[in-house]
Amino acid sequence: MFDSDAIKNEFILFLKEKLHFNDSEIYIDSDKAISNTNKYLIKEFLKQKKEGVPLDYILNSSKFYEYEFFVDSRVLIPRPETEILVDYVNNHFSSPIKVLDAGTGSGCIGISVALQNPSFQVYGSESSEVALNVASINKNNLNVENFLLICADWLSCFKTKTFDLVLSNPPYIADQDPHLEDLKHEPKKALVAKDSGLGDLKLIIEQSTKVLKKGGMLILEHGCEQENEVGNILKENNFLDIKNFKDFQNLPRITLATLE
Ligand SMILES: C[S@@+](CC[C@H](N)C(=O)[O-])C[C@H]1O[C@@H](n2cnc3c(N)ncnc32)[C@H](O)[C@@H]1O
Repeated sequence: MFDSDAIKNEFILFLKEKLHFNDSEIYIDSDKAISNTNKYLIKEFLKQKKEGVPLDYILNSSKFYEYEFFVDSRVLIPRPETEILVDYVNNHFSSPIKVLDAGTGSGCIGISVALQNPSFQVYGSESSEVALNVASINKNNLNVENFLLICADWLSCFKTKTFDLVLSNPPYIADQDPHLEDLKHEPKKALVAKDSGLGDLKLIIEQSTKVLKKGGMLILEHGCEQENEVGNILKENNFLDIKNFKDFQNLPRITLATLE
């Protein structure tokens, strides 16, 4: 049914984080009486794990960069490879700039960039109102002053030459991709894009040519087999200095380019 070691580790985390058990209550005091509420929560946990619900949704918590984000099924669970985008920004920009995180979801990219760079003015745009509610919870929980949320269809609402930097981890999975079965608890809107997964990447690249300042940079996360197509779309849209980065599994997952 499920991997017993993995479920055991997740169960221990659940006992600690959700039910606030300490180590001795988990490992030593095995006769500890369990309240009816906790018995109910444990049953619910086991039911959710049988259904394949990711632990982060059960705990309503996801670690990204140095921060803890509230998550539930309204947003994608932040992935470790997305931290590469934030790292790049932290290592290559210092003077005060205007940044857009397009498709902000939980807010993980934009909020981390804003917290790491207090002089930046960071915007998080999102078309899903329920995802915006989650991003707003994270903005408040993490007390971020230089991060503004905007309800928008990609970059359509922004004026020309507004941003120095546009970041995005858009949906990029094709409609019929078998991997979607493993992701069935996450919002489809966060995962699937038209045109074999390239539809939203194309829109963001095209719209970035308007909202980026001359010499501004676009950084995109994409699928490991989309490197060449993304590079070609960037070239067609007058982007220069196109570079690709590999993720922690050595797969080409991030492309950046500068607007001519
Ligand atoms: C792959 S998720 C990334 C979420 C978050 N940035 C992260 O890295 O975890 C893509 C996000 O884009 C949003 N999105 C989808 N279509 C959009 C559109 N037309 N305009 C703005 N955001 C959109 C989804 O709702 C989702 O939150």
